[in-house]
Amino acid sequence: MDQFLITGSSRIAGEVTISGAKNAALPLLAAMILAETPTTLHNVPSLQDVRTLIELIGGMGINIQKQGDTVTCDTKSIDNFYAPYDLVKTMRASILVLGPLLARFGEAEVSLPGGCAIGSRPVDQHLKAFEAMGATITVENGYVIAQAPKGGKLLGCKFSFDMVTVGGTENVIMAAALAKGTTILGNCALEPEVVDLANMLVAMGAKISGIGTATMTIEGVERLHGCEYSVVPDRIETGSYLAGALMTRGDVLTKNTSALLLAPVLEKFEDMGAIITTGEDWIRAQMKGRPKSVDIRTQPHPGFPTDMQAQVMAIACLADGTSTFIENIFENRYMHVPELNRLGASIQVDGHTAVVKGVECFTAAPVMATDLRASMSLVMAVAAAEGESLIDRIYHIDRGYEHVEDKLRALGVNIERINSNN
Ligand code: EPZ
Repeated sequence: MDQFLITGSSRIAGEVTISGAKNAALPLLAAMILAETPTTLHNVPSLQDVRTLIELIGGMGINIQKQGDTVTCDTKSIDNFYAPYDLVKTMRASILVLGPLLARFGEAEVSLPGGCAIGSRPVDQHLKAFEAMGATITVENGYVIAQAPKGGKLLGCKFSFDMVTVGGTENVIMAAALAKGTTILGNCALEPEVVDLANMLVAMGAKISGIGTATMTIEGVERLHGCEYSVVPDRIETGSYLAGALMTRGDVLTKNTSALLLAPVLEKFEDMGAIITTGEDWIRAQMKGRPKSVDIRTQPHPGFPTDMQAQVMAIACLADGTSTFIENIFENRYMHVPELNRLGASIQVDGHTAVVKGVECFTAAPVMATDLRASMSLVMAVAAAEGESLIDRIYHIDRGYEHVEDKLRALGVNIERINSNN
């Protein structure tokens, strides 16, 4: 299992170009299944999760290729509608192929994704919506077996999610795009990645109104054609690198991104004392002194994103004062806390609440990455710590941060990847 050896302390400063968003690329790749003619997708990041989903879609007999950051897909040769457990278990978002397969081909057999470190991650809302559209859903041996009503077409309906779900919203708008009739979908997620997917579906010929609002109306069409589309920049990657500046009195310029994608995060950065300047496709964070404490409650967009909670907590560990975090989205998203405490932080967790008493500095120590976003908070923390630190299980970070060592070195981090075969 690879490890990172990082020698601090570094002032995190420099320029990085932001990649396409992992959490947009994955639903966009799934949406390619819906197109009867070839589709081309640009700005697709080279990440383990993307490779896994491409392998899974290719396993259906679909001709899908990635050259550089461009993916081309031709669905003509599809010969099965099956998503196996051995791939789905490593990449939960594979469940997003269910809606497209069911909507276009009337059937699908997709492994249940199972949970992960941050929570049980159920998909009950996805399945409830498909049943409301007339599908027969059974779960056997860990697989979802889905059948469209006779005639092979899902039926448009009026449905509201019991809670805001990004994946649920994405799966259902993909399915509704080819349903017979109109679907009115309530309590939709508003994340930029959901908007990106809806915009690509429209480019493929879908009829969707209310994009970016909590109620979307999708008028089903007979068929969808291919298109050429580009993945939206990754707002969480952007925020993760900017956070490094706030931890080390640094100065980070992120290019090929947009402040509109992460306004709630930039507001908190300014509350913590950062000077944030922005342009059409760039954001700069400068930090002169010690961060100020902050209170964070994670919420669905446009609230503060749960995917930035660990990174901002790492900043709060060094703040002048006490910060409070309330994690409202996932039931177990404080796995980074014991690791940050190993680095000298002073964090107390009680259920969904974490109280962070600021300390002067981190001290180097070996730590372990536990999930994707926690791993980046640890990287920034050990980079800020005086001395050598080893981070174990960094396969987590490879799932979601493209060319992570190159980008960190460009920001002044002294980092080396160690291939350890234990
Ligand atoms: C997406 O996960 C993201 N992943 C997550 O990013 C992100 O944290 C999350 O949205 C919230 O913003 C991708 O887009 C690939 P949800 P998703 O459905 O769709 C509960 C990262 O680090 N729920 O919005 O799985 C669920 O348990 C990852 O990049 C149900 O109960 O999240 C959770 O508590 C981590 N039943 C809450 O809703 C359902 O059917 C939000 O989940 C669906 C969800």
